[in-house]
Amino acid sequence: MRRIDKYEAPDKLLDDRVILISGVTEGIGRALAAKCAALGATIVLLGRKVPRLESLHDEIIEAGGPRPGIVPFNLETTEWAEYEKITDVLGDEYGRLDGLVHCGGILGELSPIEHHDPYLWYRVLQVNLNAPFLITRACMPLLRKSADPSVVFVSSTVGRKGRAHWGAYSVSKFAIEGLAQVLADETENIPIRVNTVNPGATRTKLRRAAFPAEDAGQSAQPGEVLAPFLYFLGPDSRGVSYSSADSQP
Ligand SMILES: NC(=O)c1ccc[n+]([C@@H]2O[C@H](COP(=O)([O-])OP(=O)(O)OC[C@H]3O[C@@H](n4cnc5c(N)ncnc54)[C@H](OP(=O)(O)O)[C@@H]3O)[C@@H](O)[C@H]2O)c1
Repeated sequence: MRRIDKYEAPDKLLDDRVILISGVTEGIGRALAAKCAALGATIVLLGRKVPRLESLHDEIIEAGGPRPGIVPFNLETTEWAEYEKITDVLGDEYGRLDGLVHCGGILGELSPIEHHDPYLWYRVLQVNLNAPFLITRACMPLLRKSADPSVVFVSSTVGRKGRAHWGAYSVSKFAIEGLAQVLADETENIPIRVNTVNPGATRTKLRRAAFPAEDAGQSAQPGEVLAPFLYFLGPDSRGVSYSSADSQP
């Protein structure tokens, strides 16, 4: 495969596409939502902090992007039966979904398994694994209505090789890779592509929680890790499923 960490998105790459992104109130999800809108996509902004969703909504419009949708949604506490309502709202408004990116995530804690807080373990798996599963499951009928649908899960270096103390976070990312592989295999004969991206060390709230003493200069800015996401969302990746890409070398 080409070096997609260097992929340069052409203007209007995502024109007329409808893309749902979770975790857009902060970090990589926020940067990705703004960039996708700048490339022409109508973004459905999913997050739990309404004022931050509204400020991003306004920023996108002020920058000349298509009017985004807003879905206030808590990935940790929402009952699974409620997920179907996302589909109802999006179906009525847009009739289809061309892209789905799961940027919402939490770290939990860095701790040996022996001392890992069980409650935090459940919370991390709920936000990082169960919620992406439930959103994807609910959105499949709308993805099937698109001419070129793409699902992107967000992985991590510790989702490909286990590392001491990364506990539930690491396990959730291994499971995301598994979920992506299973879904890619199931959709082999229909045009839905399913891929994962590991953004690598990126300066965000989550990264600061994991490495509070790290120098700001040692990790990338959220806007610098978007290339593989854009590649997978746009038409240049047609037929590419399942691949596991990195944003940084
Ligand atoms: N940063 C890195 O170095 C790095 C490396 C590898 C992988 N990743 C992955 O990249 C993805 C994005 O992370 P990030 O680094 O951009 O972290 P971040 O800045 O902390 O952003 C995480 C996003 O998830 C949202 N979120 C968390 N819990 C939620 C909940 N219960 N309901 C709704 N939204 C919730 C946050 O919203 P709130 O504002 O409401 O908390 C925020 O918008 C994650 O999957 C992470 O695992 C990051």
